[in-house]
Amino acid sequence: MITVIGSINMDLVVMTDRAPEAGETVLGKDFHQIFGGKGANQAVAAARCGAKTTMVGRVGNDSFGDTILKGLKQEFADGAAIERIDGVPTGIAVILVDAKGQNRITVVSGANHTFNEESIEAVRPVIARSRVLLLQLEIPLDAVRQSLAIAREEGVFTILNPAPAVELPADMYQLIDLLTPNETELSILTGLPTGTRPQQIEAARTLHRRGVKSLIVTLGSYGSLYIDHEKNVKHIPAYHVKAIDTTAAGDCFNGAVACEIDRTLAKRLTGIFAPTTDELVRAIEFATKASAISVTKIGAQPSLPYRHEIDDFDDWYRAHTE
Ligand code: RIB
Repeated sequence: MITVIGSINMDLVVMTDRAPEAGETVLGKDFHQIFGGKGANQAVAAARCGAKTTMVGRVGNDSFGDTILKGLKQEFADGAAIERIDGVPTGIAVILVDAKGQNRITVVSGANHTFNEESIEAVRPVIARSRVLLLQLEIPLDAVRQSLAIAREEGVFTILNPAPAVELPADMYQLIDLLTPNETELSILTGLPTGTRPQQIEAARTLHRRGVKSLIVTLGSYGSLYIDHEKNVKHIPAYHVKAIDTTAAGDCFNGAVACEIDRTLAKRLTGIFAPTTDELVRAIEFATKASAISVTKIGAQPSLPYRHEIDDFDDWYRAHTE
């Protein structure tokens, strides 16, 4: 089982030919109100890939909260551990998507920001019965740190997608089994340049020294790099498809990776806790297919594929190759 503790947003999405410059007005082409939030997106991605998933999140007592609660409950077999918080709005994200499918996102956290160490301690039993805990950085850092610490105490495999990136407290790294930054996030975490492959490997080594066991560095159209503390480095190429909207492609990737790690660990007959390099590379290959499908559809959660679509990827790709 996977537990995701993270953000839930209503995405207010404007499709436009190009984003306005400062002080400029442009006419948009379309507007959509779509379920989002990095936490919810990753949880839905994992569930659609077939993992038993629990989403721990918070919304406000408002109409966005009503709509999201109804929608998210249908995604998870056991429902979701979503609390309603009085006096704060549901989180929202204002998203501009241009003609190339690139996005610009501003998040107003609302209820997502009300998590604290105490509220995380209250979900310890949920974390303890998981095999994998998946986190992002759209809830307060104290809450993320406490979630990681509980997972470590309870023997749960931890994945942190450090988005949006901020410098992390030094003692947090040793609680992370798998860190999944993109190139920019890797640079923010380490303060190092990450524009070339040697630089990416050096930055990853810096994080290994701080205590992280393995990293997947996502590199957009270049694919991703798997780098572990035993000096294994593997490049997994991306698929080239015509992107309509890249929103949540990273979330899709993280949810799918978590799903495959959970499946791998579920098959273990011995107490070996972490996936091997080969198992992780297979998980990344699966997730790369999932995110290629996701960028061909508009919006965060509507773009997340189901397992049968990923299993049929080869046929799908023949029809969608650029
Ligand atoms: O990663 C995409 C997500 O970032 C959007 O759904 C938006 O809500 C923001 O959290």
